[in-house]
Amino acid sequence: MNVIVVGAQWGDEGKGKIIDVLTEEADILVRYQGGNNAGHTVVADGQEFIFHLIPSGLLHPGKVGLIGHGVVVDPEALLEEMQRLKGRGIDVRQAVKLGDGAHVIFPYHKRLDVAQEAARTGRLGTTGRGIGPCYVDKVARCGIRIADLCDRQSFPERLRRNVEEKNRLLQLVYGESPFSYQELLERYQAYAEQLAPHVVNGPRFLRAAMAAGKRILFEGAQGTMLDLDHGTYPYVTSSNATAGGACTGAGVPPTAIDRVIGVVKAYTTRVGEGPLPTEFPPQLMERFRARGREFGATTGRPRRCGWFDAVVARHAVLINGCDVIAVTKLDVLDDVETIQICVGYRDGERVIEEFPSDTALLARCEPVYESLPGWRSDTGAAERFEELPPAAQRYLKRLEALLGVPICLISTGSQREQVFRVGSWLTGASA
Ligand code: GDP
Ligand code: IMO
Ligand code: MG
Repeated sequence: MNVIVVGAQWGDEGKGKIIDVLTEEADILVRYQGGNNAGHTVVADGQEFIFHLIPSGLLHPGKVGLIGHGVVVDPEALLEEMQRLKGRGIDVRQAVKLGDGAHVIFPYHKRLDVAQEAARTGRLGTTGRGIGPCYVDKVARCGIRIADLCDRQSFPERLRRNVEEKNRLLQLVYGESPFSYQELLERYQAYAEQLAPHVVNGPRFLRAAMAAGKRILFEGAQGTMLDLDHGTYPYVTSSNATAGGACTGAGVPPTAIDRVIGVVKAYTTRVGEGPLPTEFPPQLMERFRARGREFGATTGRPRRCGWFDAVVARHAVLINGCDVIAVTKLDVLDDVETIQICVGYRDGERVIEEFPSDTALLARCEPVYESLPGWRSDTGAAERFEELPPAAQRYLKRLEALLGVPICLISTGSQREQVFRVGSWLTGASA
């Protein structure tokens, strides 16, 4: 059984927690796109772990995690993440495999990311991790991959060409200081040595695993609305966060995928710039931000919050081909009197029910809401669907009807134990 888990909103849906739960039924975890712009949280035994590049399932001993070819890898960040985990008693050095086709983030990518943001008229609110500029180099075919980094013969010349070009760009266009080629060469050659024991050919590694009957769990980063092709362009990240990205990024054929699970929060959040049709007014915003602890796991920035947007989530279900969805953070709605669900967008006289590609149109639309009564009681201890208050059951049933797919998992708190299955997620049967 090979399963893809994708974010069905703007990221931070709680993918880390869902991956952690599903890892019990997987052997290999794969990150397929994005980089350390991601922050995936797992809370185990009261301890919080935030994963950036390392697959979130690796808290479970005996599992293997692959960083696939579609990922952009900051070697310093990866080594630091392994070190930090080791410091907390989790040694993942044997478990982490690094695909040799993944592209490498260099300090000039990070400086360009920040300089380009500062120079832009319409800011995107990037994480400043060098993600966009590294993917730009990949597409421009001048990027440096892990295989290139580890090749002692060709790496110096590849790096020299890149540093020369990026220094010109940084100095002449952005008025930034240049990088020393020699310093970067020595630093990255040292990283290459440290990373070498982890390096594998990603697709070949996965093919062998599948042939041996291993179960693979693909961990999407970001979310559908941040997908380069299917999100709120240009307010997106530079990779394909959607399910198709798992095949291209990991190098596995679409026919190898058995199931796609979309993760949604019971409401909506977004960090960074760009339209968020259901965004709350200040008072509700503060309430949700405080109760949901809505601050970025990577940058610490406050997340913008809003009501559940069924137009967005339905778009995600269709683009990803989600068989089932997992709903997180239901508990954050526990004390809300009346809950709204966005079921369409109003543009003047017209009501739009399909997610529009036109981001400017989306920005000026008004949400059309449907109201449901809240439940005003705690859901954090529920262990079965039937134990949820009737109003919470109705809310979830309404989400299922609007999205057209069954719910497979419900999370009602950040702790590992605060989650339960609905029906059988293997067959996709509903409650
Ligand atoms: P990801 O990027 O999709 O993995 O999500 P993040 O880890 O960035 O953000 C999700 C946040 O919500 C984290 O702080 C989680 O610990 C927390 N979380 C996950 N599920 C639940 C839940 O059901 N209830 C509450 N209250 N918090 C949750
Ligand atoms: P996880 O995997 C939420 C957002 C940034 C910005 C835009 C582009 O934890 O869900 P980038 O640095 O990628 O070029 O920034 O994308 N963004 C995320 N928002 N969750 C994430 O990851 C994100 N990764 C990037 O805030 O708006
Ligand atoms: Mg996150």
